[in-house]
Amino acid sequence: MSKKGKILVTGGTGYIGSHTTVELIEQGYEVVIIDNLSNSDAFIVDRIEQITDIRPKFYEFDLLDTDKLDNFFKENADLVGIIHFAAAKAVGESVEIPLHYYRNNLVPMINILEAMKKYKIENFVFSSSCTVYGQPDELPVTENAPVKPAESPYGYTKQVNENILNDTIKSGANIKGIALRYFNPIGAHHSGLIGELPKGVPNNLLPFITQTAYGLRKQLSVFGEDYNTPDGSCIRDYIHVVDLAKAHIVAIERLIDGKNKNSYEMFNIGTGNGFSVFEVIKSFEQSTGEKLNYKVVARRAGDIEQIWADTTIGNNELGWKATKTLDEMTLSAWKWEQNYRKDLN
Ligand code: WQD
Repeated sequence: MSKKGKILVTGGTGYIGSHTTVELIEQGYEVVIIDNLSNSDAFIVDRIEQITDIRPKFYEFDLLDTDKLDNFFKENADLVGIIHFAAAKAVGESVEIPLHYYRNNLVPMINILEAMKKYKIENFVFSSSCTVYGQPDELPVTENAPVKPAESPYGYTKQVNENILNDTIKSGANIKGIALRYFNPIGAHHSGLIGELPKGVPNNLLPFITQTAYGLRKQLSVFGEDYNTPDGSCIRDYIHVVDLAKAHIVAIERLIDGKNKNSYEMFNIGTGNGFSVFEVIKSFEQSTGEKLNYKVVARRAGDIEQIWADTTIGNNELGWKATKTLDEMTLSAWKWEQNYRKDLN
């Protein structure tokens, strides 16, 4: 089958990067991955091959290494596009080690954009986040909502990277860019071969739920039930990681096919539905048949109360819509956890 072209996925052995790589390969693209394995494992490349029967070429190095990055581009000057995931993404950790987050998340963005100018690569999709909105004044939140002061250095790096991309494009660089503002990605590929692989104690809700159900964690702590929401727990727009991955294919093809209306665009990538922590727990118990052990504790610093996406622009302009239900998300996360742990033993 003739390839549609070669795409670089940075962070391609990570959670969203690996799911996007699978979708790209299945759509006929050749994928090359750069990842420093700081928050993922090389066996994910084997799993991608197992799912697609095609092994993406994997380059293990840090995007801070400009010599290795330049050599990579010399070898891959035929790229038709870049999807940039590689970044540190733990909100709490970013408060503890901000300098690591600023170097690790911002300098690679600059290095890649400079390489794109040098090697005349035009199409760029950036992994942004709904974190840029903070606690929106109005819900659902649209792309035109004001970007508020970030709640963490992590969230700030997403805001700054959006500006770095936009300013570079506005300066006349021959680059077209799309920032995808993710809401809360959860779940796993139906094969159970790839999924969220947090190193250490999970920060995010779903991996903590599945590790608790598996017996790796004693109990889930629900961070507060005194919010101004129907059941008192925080509300988020959870989106299946495969729906999210598919949005990246639509975005990069919009640029490759020249269908973008502006040289810099941004889109909310959510479902448009908000679910509370208690509703996620209920969905997990219903979809898996597992009883979850949890207790309510104090609020977590930095958490916003509630957010969910206005998906109108993403649906109408981008031509993409999330399809999977919360039960499909929680069940697929559980299947991945069981498979992963079984393979470890
Ligand atoms: C979800 C809800 C917690 C853990 C973060 C980033 C965001 C994106 C997704 C990268 C909250 C509650 C959680 C637990 C709990 N990351 N919770 N007990 O904080 O909405 O978003 O991850 O792009 O940018 O900010 O996700 O999964 O940590 O929390 O009660 O053990 O679950 O309070 O209400 P969050 P999360």
